[in-house]
Amino acid sequence: MKRVMYFSAARAGLGEKEVDAIVAEAAKRNALHGVTGALGFNGQAFCQVLEGDEDTLDRLLESISRDPRHNDFKIVDVKKVETRAFPDWTMTRVDSLDFQHIVDAMRN
Ligand SMILES: Cc1cc2nc3c(=O)[nH]c(=O)nc-3n(C[C@H](O)[C@H](O)[C@H](O)COP(=O)(O)O)c2cc1C
Repeated sequence: MKRVMYFSAARAGLGEKEVDAIVAEAAKRNALHGVTGALGFNGQAFCQVLEGDEDTLDRLLESISRDPRHNDFKIVDVKKVETRAFPDWTMTRVDSLDFQHIVDAMRN
């Protein structure tokens, strides 16, 4: 299994409702594929952690990286892991000012 963290820039004008829709869609799809993680949004930029099977994540990241709702997609950290940092979250929005969950997840 691996855990990946990336940053990206939201498309100009992307609003809270659209971000909530991304999270809702992601949570459903991730549940089907055994993917868990967290998404932070500060009004302009995304920071997301995803964890799951390597091939599944590679396909998902390829598809996320091509999503027109954001750009400047940049993977900043990748770890091989045995256990999940977010076992209960198929995708959850973390508070825009609180990236602590994400920082903690990439610590081990
Ligand atoms: C910031 C951001 C985060 C996303 N996170 C996920 C995710 O965790 N899981 C997911 O299935 N799709 C996520 N998506 C949506 C994907 O980019 C894509 O729309 C979806 O996987 C369907 O892709 P497909 O049409 O290539 O199958 C995210 C999109 C954005 C913009």
